[in-house]
Amino acid sequence: MKLLVLGGTLFVGRHLVEAAVGRGHTVTLFNRGRHGAELFPDVDKLRGDRETDLAALHGRQWDAVIDTCGNLPHVVAMSAELLANNIGHYTFVSSVSAYREFPGRGGLDESAGLAQMLSESQQPNESNFGAFKAACERVVERSFPGRALLVRAGFIVGPHDPTRRFAYWPQRIAEGGEVLAPGDPDAPVQLIDVRDVAAWTLGAIERGLTGAYNVTGREHVMTMAELLDVCRRECGRCTFKWLSDDFLLSNGVMPRRDLPLWSPHAAGAALVDTTKARAAGLSCQDIAATVHDTFVSTTLHAGGPRPGNWLSKERERELLTAWHNAQRPLAGIA
Ligand SMILES: NC(=O)c1ccc[n+]([C@@H]2O[C@H](COP(=O)([O-])OP(=O)(O)OC[C@H]3O[C@@H](n4cnc5c(N)ncnc54)[C@H](OP(=O)(O)O)[C@@H]3O)[C@@H](O)[C@H]2O)c1
Repeated sequence: MKLLVLGGTLFVGRHLVEAAVGRGHTVTLFNRGRHGAELFPDVDKLRGDRETDLAALHGRQWDAVIDTCGNLPHVVAMSAELLANNIGHYTFVSSVSAYREFPGRGGLDESAGLAQMLSESQQPNESNFGAFKAACERVVERSFPGRALLVRAGFIVGPHDPTRRFAYWPQRIAEGGEVLAPGDPDAPVQLIDVRDVAAWTLGAIERGLTGAYNVTGREHVMTMAELLDVCRRECGRCTFKWLSDDFLLSNGVMPRRDLPLWSPHAAGAALVDTTKARAAGLSCQDIAATVHDTFVSTTLHAGGPRPGNWLSKERERELLTAWHNAQRPLAGIA
């Protein structure tokens, strides 16, 4: 197939392009050339800014387009409207955050209601990101009715993740010692390897699938304790000290900001139903391979220090000390 990729050089897009080339497709990239310009020397590259300049796309034809970098509905509308007559199929990389809410018991499927933007003039931020994605989905479906594939991805992990979110755990565990493990060991975690997202998405495009699909972690529920144990098996020796949600929250530790994958009281968001995508071929590789490859790529790229702006060594030690002190019986009380 002749595939156009809007984006394609950071993380999800990069793996999609690698997989597409590997499957024998002819790929064209459209981006500004600011990131990963050295990647894919044999792939056709068009330069432009999707917000202001789509000239390079005029009059060109492809079988399908994959849009990995759409977050603003009016910007996505520009490419979708321009390409509607020249391309048969539009894949939009969306997010499970597009849903309005997650039932606490989990099991949310593709029929659930989507988040709404409060106004057209809103600026995107962390809390309304999902509403923007939902609005982008609607824009794509308007221009490509019955010809749009909406990939509602969950937490995506794996090599080359620029956010280094997941990499915190393998890297921290490799440091050894006593590791602060957050919250409930039995809390569910749901994530997907970026290479599984790429493989499934390409297979879906090849088969001409349309509609929305939840594309995230495995059939069985994985717990935080299981995930950290896999990291320990793959990356080093350490002991875990589980600090309760209440302790962490009352000490100012911020969910999602200080410790990746720790989302107290939000189990439903990690229990999204992927039955539809699995019936359409989604499979997840062994989490050990994801951990191993993420660790290897992080060590190579970061040279070993803790990735991102997650909990520093000093802060972690402070919290562990406070926890141990709080557990000790008070002197003089029998
Ligand atoms: N990570 C997760 O856990 C997760 C979960 C759910 C959904 N998602 C979604 O997955 C997608 C993944 O994105 P990614 O960053 O990994 O994709 P990517 O395609 O690998 O990288 C982003 C690409 O967009 C290009 N780009 C950015 N702004 C542009 C502009 N104005 N005009 C033209 N090109 C532009 C960048 O190149 P230049 O800068 O060189 O232009 C780059 O090639 C996002 O839509 C995200 O919302 C991610």
